[in-house]
Amino acid sequence: MKKIAVFTSGGDSPGMNACVRAVVRTGIYHNLDVYSIMYGYDGMIKGNIKKMQSHSVSNILQRGGTILKSARSTEFRTKEGRQKAFEELKKHGIDGLVAVGGDGTFTGAKIFYEEFGIPTVGCPGTIDNDIFGTDYTIGFDTAVNTALEAIDKIRDTAAAHDRIFFIEVMGRDSGYIAIECGIGGGAELVMVPETTTTIHDVVKSLKGLRKSKTSSIVVVAEGDEEGGAADIMEKVKSEFKGEDKEFKVTTLGHIQRGGSPTAKDRILGSRSGMAAVEGLINGKSNCMAGIINDQVVYTPFEECITKSKPLKEEYLRLQELLSI
Ligand code: F6P
Repeated sequence: MKKIAVFTSGGDSPGMNACVRAVVRTGIYHNLDVYSIMYGYDGMIKGNIKKMQSHSVSNILQRGGTILKSARSTEFRTKEGRQKAFEELKKHGIDGLVAVGGDGTFTGAKIFYEEFGIPTVGCPGTIDNDIFGTDYTIGFDTAVNTALEAIDKIRDTAAAHDRIFFIEVMGRDSGYIAIECGIGGGAELVMVPETTTTIHDVVKSLKGLRKSKTSSIVVVAEGDEEGGAADIMEKVKSEFKGEDKEFKVTTLGHIQRGGSPTAKDRILGSRSGMAAVEGLINGKSNCMAGIINDQVVYTPFEECITKSKPLKEEYLRLQELLSI
């Protein structure tokens, strides 16, 4: 292996830059030529590829977003698109790839590897923490802390006005952000896609709270089966008719995707980036370099994308128990 390329794809996440920096510098350390591909798979198709030096990744470790930009490519979903991408990589002599992203990124990487055989190792970059094969994903810790800071602030105003707040956090198919924010932020209730909580359950819980609780926080993962926080709030509110209760909604949205990465995300990104390059050098491919129990583990893409990572039962119980 002589020339490798790195790209970021799907939703950006804080710590991706730390990962890119580690890939570039680990590659150079091992005497590889390292290239960057801008805009993920789209950039691969368009040949948006350039050689990186050690200084190309200076001063990015502490920055959110991704200097390589990101995109969700529809063309790469087609065989023609992937063929074009392969031709571009061939033109540059790329013989190894590091893909930083989530399950969509790894689904593309797996198909591409099976079709064209360029060795590829992934790094888990998504705020959702929904990837099998790693305890945490790059960006999750920062996103939780960002959301938590917002929840603390909302709690102040909720308490001042005796209001019930429904706060929506990200997590399309996963309640990881919601449950950790719920525990850390002392939420009265957390609604996640992994468990069923009906409107009736929400109403019952809120009505059953001890009298000394005059305000409440309900954290809702955006992918909850009852809908988004705004829908849920309206349905719950209609069950409180005639009662002197005020309801409010806050959707935290993309604020959770930005910001300077926490130490955890910088270190996870750096470890995963180094492991991906050293994995490629040692013959690993079609797999992701994750961290399980503080050890680097290479998990086949197939498992990363097909196996689910269930929420910890203990976390669900802890949140419920502490909200009485
Ligand atoms: O996958 C990460 C994520 O932030 C999800 O939590 C969210 O549903 C989605 O990306 C939003 O994607 P976009 O930025 O493309 O709207």
